[in-house]
Amino acid sequence: RRTDNPVTVIPWWQQQRSRLLAMADLHSPCYVYDLNTLAEQADILKSLTAVDRFFFAMKANAHPAVLGKILQQGIGLETVSPGEIDRCLSLESPPDRRNLLFTPNFAPIEEYSRALEQGIATTIDNPALLYDYPAVFKNRRIILRLDPGHGSGHHRYVRTAGEQSKFGIPESTLPNLADWCEQHEILVFGLHAHTGSGILDHRNWQRIAHFLARGLAYFKDVEVINVGGGLGIKENPGDSGLDFKALNASLSDFKQQHPNIALWMEPGRFLVAHCGVLLAKVTQTKLKGKQGYIGLETGMNSLIRPALYGAWHNIVNLTRLDAPCDFSANIVGPMCESGDILGIDRPMPATRAGDVVLIANTGAYGATMASRYNLRDPAQELIIGD
Ligand code: LLP
Repeated sequence: RRTDNPVTVIPWWQQQRSRLLAMADLHSPCYVYDLNTLAEQADILKSLTAVDRFFFAMKANAHPAVLGKILQQGIGLETVSPGEIDRCLSLESPPDRRNLLFTPNFAPIEEYSRALEQGIATTIDNPALLYDYPAVFKNRRIILRLDPGHGSGHHRYVRTAGEQSKFGIPESTLPNLADWCEQHEILVFGLHAHTGSGILDHRNWQRIAHFLARGLAYFKDVEVINVGGGLGIKENPGDSGLDFKALNASLSDFKQQHPNIALWMEPGRFLVAHCGVLLAKVTQTKLKGKQGYIGLETGMNSLIRPALYGAWHNIVNLTRLDAPCDFSANIVGPMCESGDILGIDRPMPATRAGDVVLIANTGAYGATMASRYNLRDPAQELIIGD
């Protein structure tokens, strides 16, 4: 449990405070995404010069303006459903098919055949598909998602490797699978793995790359190694984030050993988490014994991460940003659910109904995971910057 509220670098939302207050006045509850911050994150990502191509995992944020800005940065889009593919293709400037990836999991076979017919590079993560439907994949260029054996990440729900995870193809099945693909003219041009989300150990992706390189022994036509996403972020400006220099050095080392292989990466959170904030007005406050509560217009229907993963997001009273945080309160939403908590025991100033509360770093997996539980509409999404 954190009880401090440290801010050492002035975040964009503090600089835009009066504008955000005005937006909240009209549109609360709302997510606001700052496209300039998004471009800054893209620049940091591109400092990984060892990586040949980036694809944004759009499950993290699917707002058309966000996707458009990301494409402008020369970053492609990784999709996981026909809905996400359709969103990409209906953008004002739709991406070239080479800028799209499709990485479904336990999806109906029709989704794979449709994406392949659309010319979208598709990742297969179950040998059964290739054994059961060889005709669908004949003469198609596909990527195989392998399971490196153990996952990592900020919560057990976001670890995506190992026997207890439903994702990926176990290494032991590769020799037979390679024979099958050759016999049925299934063209494996890439190997992929994604081990989890919110990872801050820079060695993770080099390990994945070396693991995938073992697959080159079976699949002779592989040109691409995709080491997935999962790049963690600084939750607080005071935290130490991922060491990008060390990450780039470790991947450059891999590239030197495999100069003919293109290295791909597909981050979601890293690009968009910092660029989004959730704004909501205070509805009521309450004191029950020693426990204080600050109730907001929206809760887990807009942001489920704290309820689902115990995720920590910085929460401030934007109306009274300079007031001393003398109180501690649980920040809750209006849903009929005890788990409808956005923050536990947070230091807050004396707060009144009508104040605007800001929940930071909510540009990733905020709006995309929202629901209409209790038939309450989640926060709408607004854009600034650019
Ligand atoms: N590639 C694949 C195949 C993935 O499954 C994911 C995320 C990513 C890339 C991007 O991961 P990122 O860079 O965003 O960590 N809802 C959770 C995160 C779930 C991630 C699922 N897969 C959260 O809010 O923390």
